[in-house]
Amino acid sequence: MSKHLHQRTHFRSFLLHFRPRAVPERTLRFTLTWGLGGMAMVLVLLLIATGLMLKFVYEPFPDRAYDSILYLNSQVPFGQLLRNIHWWSANALILVAFLHLLRVFYTGAFVAPRQLNWVIGLLLMAAVVLSNYTGYLLPWDQVAFWAITISTSMLDYLPGVGEGIKQWILGGAEAGPQTLVNFYAIHTAILPTLLLFALPFHFWRVRKAQGLVIPKTTNEDPQTKGEMVDSMPHLIMREVSMALLLCAIILLLAMFFNAPLTDQANPGLSPNPTKAPWYFMGIQELLMHFHPVFAILLIPLALLLGLLALPLIRYDAVTSGVWFASARGRRLVLVAMVLAMIFSIGGVLLDEYVLPAQMVGPPGFISTGLLPFGLILALAAGFYLLARKVLGANINEAVQALFTLLITAFVTLTLIGVWFRGTGMQLMWTG
Ligand code: HEM
Repeated sequence: MSKHLHQRTHFRSFLLHFRPRAVPERTLRFTLTWGLGGMAMVLVLLLIATGLMLKFVYEPFPDRAYDSILYLNSQVPFGQLLRNIHWWSANALILVAFLHLLRVFYTGAFVAPRQLNWVIGLLLMAAVVLSNYTGYLLPWDQVAFWAITISTSMLDYLPGVGEGIKQWILGGAEAGPQTLVNFYAIHTAILPTLLLFALPFHFWRVRKAQGLVIPKTTNEDPQTKGEMVDSMPHLIMREVSMALLLCAIILLLAMFFNAPLTDQANPGLSPNPTKAPWYFMGIQELLMHFHPVFAILLIPLALLLGLLALPLIRYDAVTSGVWFASARGRRLVLVAMVLAMIFSIGGVLLDEYVLPAQMVGPPGFISTGLLPFGLILALAAGFYLLARKVLGANINEAVQALFTLLITAFVTLTLIGVWFRGTGMQLMWTG
């Protein structure tokens, strides 16, 4: 065997430690996964690589952090580009991981035998959001300082425990040197370690479930997976091309758009408006309409428990691998999306311009908590029953539509918070 061929064989068997030798051809169809899990993985690797390099310059102390970023931007060769790549990858990862969650959900890949991987996925999502959140503070500029201050101060509203949790996160009564050290350790050591352990486990579970979800077809033995093709080149070349394309997009973004950096943090001067990081703006928006116990505890907790419980529901059809379960499922998803947008935008406008302001004295637990929360629950239950009884949906389709309703409402509130809240948190276009 020539030396060249020998090396190629070694390389091939090395790659096959990570990938099965052959995969069903049907799982290669791009529209099954949109390559989103792979993209998330590439972004994690980019973040770790650029993050390690940033550590050579960054100093986690309030009197030096901001200057170290200025130094990176202006003195270190390619320093600004490095920070930009890290920033763009971090924000893209939240979006891509969320889209991957949606694709797993809408192709019914969260039921047995993939239920454990769904839960690991939720843990990964939490790790991704927390990584972004802890990284947000590090530049120690005005936007970072006040975003962390406003989002942790939401906890004050939690009766009894809120104050304690906030102090624990901040390492003191307010954001200061200890907060920066805590966030730095969590951001650069704890969360990356967690990700590096959880991700191989996530991939191993995909292998344990005999690969990606694919629909069972009626004219075929359910055990067979159709035609098999070699991973190399069919799967691996697709993955490499996707990874290169994604890296090129991130690089272009990083070359043309700088990561934001405002003035150095000034604890005595809050910007107007003071906003939480964009992925928490949905919660900040909820807080403007609901009693805090509902806005920051009960509603997010209900959503999270709902996501965790999804695999436990007893479904009445096997629709795994079929996008939106069926044609009716697809139509119901569309209806749910439109209804959720109408209700959430309508709700915000109603509360803002029509309902009487109740911000004198403490907000009422019943008027801004129990009543509207009860109303939402009633609407959700009504919608579920409508889908089941009137539109003839099976459990799979109805649960899917209900999930769509809630997620679309949350995304709509997030967009309102990000783009339509200006000075004094008034409703206005800020884009
Ligand atoms: C850092 C974040 C994540 C990374 C890097 C990641 C990576 C991957 C990859 C590469 C796959 C193989 C198929 C594909 O590309 O879609 C996959 C599958 C899967 N992921 Fe993730 N994932 C992440 C987060 C999540 C989240 C947030 C969830 C859901 C809560 C999730 C649930 C699943 C499930 C259930 C599968 C199996 C799907 C199937 O068999 O079709 N993952 N993941």
